[in-house]
Amino acid sequence: MRFNYRIMNVLPPLKFSSSLGSTTETMSGKPTSLNRSPLPLRPDEGAPGVLGRIGNTPLYEFRQVTPKNDRVKIFAKLEWYNPAGSVKDRPAYRMIAHGEQTGALKPGKIILDASSGNTGIAYAMIGACRGYQVRLCIPKNVCIERKQMLAAYGAEVIYTDPRKSSDGAIVEAQRLMRENPDLYFYPDQYNNDQNWTAHFETTGPEIIRQTGGQVTHFIAGLGTTGSLMGTGRRLKKELKHIKVIAMQPDSPFHGLEGLKHMESAIVPGIYDANFPDDQVSVRTEDAHEMVRRLAREEGMLVGISSGAVMKAALNHSERIETGNIVVIFPDGGDRYLSESFWKA
Ligand SMILES: Cc1ncc(COP(=O)(O)O)c(C=O)c1O
Repeated sequence: MRFNYRIMNVLPPLKFSSSLGSTTETMSGKPTSLNRSPLPLRPDEGAPGVLGRIGNTPLYEFRQVTPKNDRVKIFAKLEWYNPAGSVKDRPAYRMIAHGEQTGALKPGKIILDASSGNTGIAYAMIGACRGYQVRLCIPKNVCIERKQMLAAYGAEVIYTDPRKSSDGAIVEAQRLMRENPDLYFYPDQYNNDQNWTAHFETTGPEIIRQTGGQVTHFIAGLGTTGSLMGTGRRLKKELKHIKVIAMQPDSPFHGLEGLKHMESAIVPGIYDANFPDDQVSVRTEDAHEMVRRLAREEGMLVGISSGAVMKAALNHSERIETGNIVVIFPDGGDRYLSESFWKA
C-alpha cells in the first residue's frame, strides 16, 4: 500500500497523553509541555516507557564454560538485557532521576558527562526519552559501534585524546562545566553516590532474590566502581558469608574497555579500596580468549570486560572447595565486533 503524502501532510499532528500524566507529546516524541512529574528513583516504581524496563536482568548459570570442580557454580547477570544494552542504564537512570527530583536537572539543561561509552549510550537513550540534549566527552579510540550508537540516539560527542584514556575525557567534561555551569547538568558518574546506590537498590536485591541468598562470592570489574561498591554493599548488608572481589586490568595500557587500572588512573571518589575482600587482575589477551570461548562454547556473545570477569571467576573457582560465584557481565559482544581479536 502506498501512502498518500498529500493527505498525510494536511492532517494535524497526532497528540496523545503520555504515562507521565501531565505531559503531552507529539508524534515526534518531544514533550510539548515540560511541567511533568520527575522520574521515580527506581525504574520499577513506575518509570514511563522503555525506562521502566531497566533492571531485572536474567541471572544465567553456565553450562559449558564451567569450573573443573563441579561443587563450584558460576552465574552471570546479563546486563545487555537493559534497554540501551548495558549495566550503565541503572546508574545513568538513577543519576538523572535524582537530578530531576532535586531540581538540579530542569528542562532546557544539557546533560554533560565523561564516559568510555556505555554510560554515554545510557544517557543518550534516557535523554531521548525525556527530551534532554546530551553532550559527552569520550576518548577518540572507543570502538566504532559505540560512536554509531551515540549518533543513532542523537547525542553530541566531544572526542578527547586517546592517549589520556577516560581520564582525558573527565578533565574535558570538568573544563566545560567550569566554563558554563548554568548550561549543564553534570552527573559526574565517578563521584556521584547515586551511581553505586542504583546497584545497592536494584542489582544487589535482584542477585539475592535470584540465588535465594545462596551466592557466596561476587566479582565485578572496576570502572567507576559503582557496580562493585553498590552491589557489594547490599550483598554484605544482607548476607554474612559473602566475599566481594574487585577485578581490574593488569597494566595501565590495556584493552578492557570500561575498566580502570586504579594504580595509574584518577581514582573515582565513590571507590573505597578497603571495601573489597580481595583484588584480582586480568590480562587483556586472557579476556579476549575468554570472549571467544564464551561465543564458541557457550553460544554467548559478550563484551571484553565480561570475558575478563569470567576469567577472574574461573581462576577463583580453583581457590575454593564449594560455592556460587556471581559475576556482572556489563555488556554484549555486538559492541565490539569491529575489534581484531575475533579473528584469532
Ligand atoms: C563495558 C564495561 N564494563 C565494566 C564497566 C564498569 O562498571 P562500573 O562503572 O560500575 O565500575 C563499565 C563501565 O562503564 C563498562 O562500560
